[in-house]
Amino acid sequence: MQRTRPQGRVAYVDGRYLPHARATVHIEDRGLQFADAVYEVCSVNDGLLLDETGHLDRLERSLKELAIPMPMGRAALMAVMREVMRRNRLTDGLIYLQVTRGAYRRDHAIPQTVRPSLMITARSLDPKTYDKRRVDGISVITVKENRWGRCDIKTTGLLPNVLAKTEARKAGAYEAWFVDPQGFVTEGSSTNAWIVTRKDVLVTRDLKANILAGVTRKGVLAALSHHGINAIEERAFTLKEATEASEAFITSASGGVIPVVIIDGHAIGTGTPGPMASRIHALYRDMSLAEAKP
Ligand code: PDD
Repeated sequence: MQRTRPQGRVAYVDGRYLPHARATVHIEDRGLQFADAVYEVCSVNDGLLLDETGHLDRLERSLKELAIPMPMGRAALMAVMREVMRRNRLTDGLIYLQVTRGAYRRDHAIPQTVRPSLMITARSLDPKTYDKRRVDGISVITVKENRWGRCDIKTTGLLPNVLAKTEARKAGAYEAWFVDPQGFVTEGSSTNAWIVTRKDVLVTRDLKANILAGVTRKGVLAALSHHGINAIEERAFTLKEATEASEAFITSASGGVIPVVIIDGHAIGTGTPGPMASRIHALYRDMSLAEAKP
């Protein structure tokens, strides 16, 4: 079997900017051994980092919850992210940032002294790929919620998400929504889940549930509030409510707002992307781009 390695130009690892192929971590890094690591994915549009404050706030929170120190101050981190963008000539795409607890002799218990590792990579993406998904809409399948109880922490321990997304791809769908034992949708394998009811109320799961507080979710809520759109409910919704909704969509840093037109084979609304998702995407994108401008 041919092994192909991901392509890229320059990655940052612990103080050094290295050619992607030579950017490596220690064999006993706890990120590899225990997924003892957290990450963030930030979108870059027209050379601007979107929702940077939100991503860095969440990174700090995830690290704090796991008692991993910030590898460097926030201003320094922002400078490194920009340098990675510059060295990769990144105008549209993603910045991936991971902080692991570092490398130690293997022991489940957290070591006394901790020197975290920081790695940052960049990936160019053609915005047209996502724009096409916005025009066509995407399909979603549902899977049983089987993740641990701290999905609020953005750790790299993503096997249930990886398996769920793979099931979706096998079924010809783009995303998988987790459904908890009570029948409520929690979130997607790498996105937050939203519906628009037939009375035009926007519904997304509340943050008391075991989900990730999406930065895009927060940005969308801020943009809606800014434009006086207040028919929003942060609460649990069932799969039945979702399939009977007039629209559904997902949010994430990588894709912004993407309409869902099929859930488990049921057409949502007209079976084509509705007006709300595209309007919300525009409101969110305009506001986050405006905030990202220096
Ligand atoms: N995923 N829920 C989960 C489980 C996620 O992994 C993500 C992000 C989101 C959306 O969060 P945000 O709006 O902050 O991107 C919700 C990223 C993009 C990823 O793993 O690639």
